[in-house]
Amino acid sequence: MNKIYGWIVTGICVSIMACSGDDTSASPEESAALPETVTFSEHIAPIIYKNCTPCHRDQSAGPFSFTNYEEVRAKAKTIAKVTRSRFMPPWPADPTYVSFKDERVLTDYEISLIGKWVEQDCPIGDAQSIPATPVYPIGSQIGEPDIVIPFPDIDIAGNNTDHFFLVKVPYEMPEARYVKTVEFIPGNKKLAHHMNANLILFDPAKKKDVTKGKKVLATNLAESALLVQTEMDNFQDDGSVPGLQPLVCNYLPGVSPAIYPAGIGGFLMPAKGAFFINDYHFGPSAKDEIDSTSHFNIFFSDAPPKRPTYELLLGSLGVSPVVPALIIPANEVKTFTIDYQVQETMSLITVNPHMHLIGKTFTAFAITPKQDTIKLVHIPKWDFRWQYFYTYKQVVVIPAGSRIHVEATFDNTVNNVNNPNHPPQVIIDRAGRFDSMKSTNEMLQLILSYMPYQPGDEQLSLE
Ligand code: HEC
Repeated sequence: MNKIYGWIVTGICVSIMACSGDDTSASPEESAALPETVTFSEHIAPIIYKNCTPCHRDQSAGPFSFTNYEEVRAKAKTIAKVTRSRFMPPWPADPTYVSFKDERVLTDYEISLIGKWVEQDCPIGDAQSIPATPVYPIGSQIGEPDIVIPFPDIDIAGNNTDHFFLVKVPYEMPEARYVKTVEFIPGNKKLAHHMNANLILFDPAKKKDVTKGKKVLATNLAESALLVQTEMDNFQDDGSVPGLQPLVCNYLPGVSPAIYPAGIGGFLMPAKGAFFINDYHFGPSAKDEIDSTSHFNIFFSDAPPKRPTYELLLGSLGVSPVVPALIIPANEVKTFTIDYQVQETMSLITVNPHMHLIGKTFTAFAITPKQDTIKLVHIPKWDFRWQYFYTYKQVVVIPAGSRIHVEATFDNTVNNVNNPNHPPQVIIDRAGRFDSMKSTNEMLQLILSYMPYQPGDEQLSLE
């Protein structure tokens, strides 16, 4: 597998994106079916409360709140614009290619409703019948955690740039426990953008003190993986490399923690160990800030997982290479591929496409030995800010002997507003350094979460 000093490394790197998009106006018959008068109470509030309010409220990631008529009305024109361009709600995957679990995508009809409502100057309708503003759980979206593990304080400099940190979160508990799921609660909810956690599985006989070493490192200072692991004291006392449980928790604003149906997923958490966050991304801020209350909520399970899940990483640092080698010359738009031969039949649960700033499009599908095509994911307009782990509604069975094919295009020209270099410069594969946002590097990966196939998985729902 993709080992760097024995470890899986999947730095997810994102930054700020400009608001742009194609017009996707409603078809004539959809527009024709629109109600005479579109009102907030009857038509708009349900759309906004379901698709926007999870992020656009106090203590969440959106820049302003949409929790009542006045707040929505105040931004009505912009709302019409960003929904028509499909900039909001953020969902880069093409829902007509594959429709995923918990998908947040407006229909053309809903977009037209919003447009007509704004044209009609935002009628409120019957104020008495406005649906209640959703109430969001405080502290956890799932329930009462069995234990809570706090993060170290993280200082975020107010210099209007994105910040990326490697974080070590050590813990000790009385005994090893099986874990159902790990939920992440960011401290600074406005700035926290993503967080990807792995669990270091120290051998208790070989690691005395899990709390030693640096807890927080800015990734731009972290050129060398060896240096990072040494400074954070991530090796065992005899110098050997501990095991790693990859991707135990991934966070993006507005995304609920991954909970699969009973028996699927989960892992054994040793009595003492450390989470290794690679990485934790904060958006830009004009003033100095601190994140002091980020934490994990851990939910135990009494029994070992019936169906453990595994990660397979294709592309950069993964089991099958990017072809040709990932070198994107200045002023070129260039396409690369990855091909992977499936050894044993896989029951696929989640996919995570990964590129950096100059990604443009991403498509993955499998070709079975019978030459059938299984669509996996298509991202028509890559947006490095929203790197979801997309979970299928139902397990996708990929027969042994299939070939998984990834095709991705990068735009290293001046036409790409996200190009970090002016003028464009050659950009190469990041090749395993912990320096996630260096403007000189890119990555191309597809991360698959799967279970070894069992009969009946074809019918297994993940909802
Ligand atoms: C997953 C979280 C999330 C969801 C869901 C979401 N937003 Fe946002 N929204 C954001 C964030 C974060 C920003 C700031 C983006 C930026 O600065 O690039 C934003 C920005 C905006 C903006 C400002 C855009 C601009 O050009 O300045 C508008 C308007 C907006 N959202 C409307 C909506 C509407 C309407 C919906 C629902 C249809 C929605 N959002 C759903 C997170 C979300």
